[in-house]
Amino acid sequence: MSTAAAELRSKRFAAAVPDLERIEAMPLLAEIDALKHARNAVVLAHNYQAPAIYHGVADFTGDSLALAQQAARSEAEVIVVAGVQFMAETAKLLNPTRMVLISSLAAGCSLAESISAADVRALRRRHPGVPVVSYVNTSAAVKAESDICCTSANALRIVESLGVPKVIFLPDRYLGHHVQQQTGIELVLWEGACEVHERFTGAQLRGLRRDHPGLQIVAHPECPPEVLAEADFVGSTQGMVDHLARSKPAQVVLITECSMSDNVAGEFPEIRFVRPCNLCPHMRQITLVGIRDALRDLRHEVTLPAEIIAPARRALERMLAVGRA
Ligand code: 13P
Ligand code: SF4
Repeated sequence: MSTAAAELRSKRFAAAVPDLERIEAMPLLAEIDALKHARNAVVLAHNYQAPAIYHGVADFTGDSLALAQQAARSEAEVIVVAGVQFMAETAKLLNPTRMVLISSLAAGCSLAESISAADVRALRRRHPGVPVVSYVNTSAAVKAESDICCTSANALRIVESLGVPKVIFLPDRYLGHHVQQQTGIELVLWEGACEVHERFTGAQLRGLRRDHPGLQIVAHPECPPEVLAEADFVGSTQGMVDHLARSKPAQVVLITECSMSDNVAGEFPEIRFVRPCNLCPHMRQITLVGIRDALRDLRHEVTLPAEIIAPARRALERMLAVGRA
């Protein structure tokens, strides 16, 4: 990292992390840096990670798609995923010769847990010949049963890339509904939902608009339709950041996991962030101590059966070939 980049990182870390937490974190940051050098390791952190991780130890940050792309091209010997299980599995699938570590085995995802490989096989029996698009928020076993993956950044583009009149889209019914509104392709949906985004309501958003005149509402497509109907912009977590850079609203609310605003506020000092808070309990399982322990003891390595790796990787590689929207 260049000196200028290191200075910027430490400035943002100081701005985003409260004093006491910062004092506690400093020795851990030094330990993690030393372990990263010793192990030739990188830390890939999702946008929902706590600011101390996002600004303090991440070598790369981004949405699910960006983390997958980064994992695929990483030359580090060890990749530590500061994110949830499906993100770590995706990194392993795309770079199977590297050691991929996740610092907590409890970092799941309500969407990934909503559907099994057997469910996908049953859907295929019910809809013969209909291709399966699975959201990246799924287990490797579900990906292995799928034709192609997508993320919230490219779901519409992936569905349309198939050139067919009907697609099985799983497991997020809200993301599926959002895609369905933008395409003539018929989608067969599954009943999965994100436990964080489904808590937002249209009434909450109308209340925020009333309380903050001129507020711009930016929402993640995992939110229910009544929430997305109130939004000025809908996009993936990285899509939100790109949108802020383009449109520079005077004040904004990001309708998504609340660490996101804490993390990106430093990049946009001229924007006022209104911050209702829904935390993802799974993302919160990842801590600096856990990352230090994973790197020190090489613990919680992601391993996947060979018969799953090949087909699941194929579904991910097809997605990467289509790219971002
Ligand atoms: P993004 O792909 O937009 O980063 O979203 C991942 C996720 O888990 C959202 O809840
Ligand atoms: Fe899963 Fe929702 Fe947490 Fe994202 S925010 S990891 S979709 S539970």
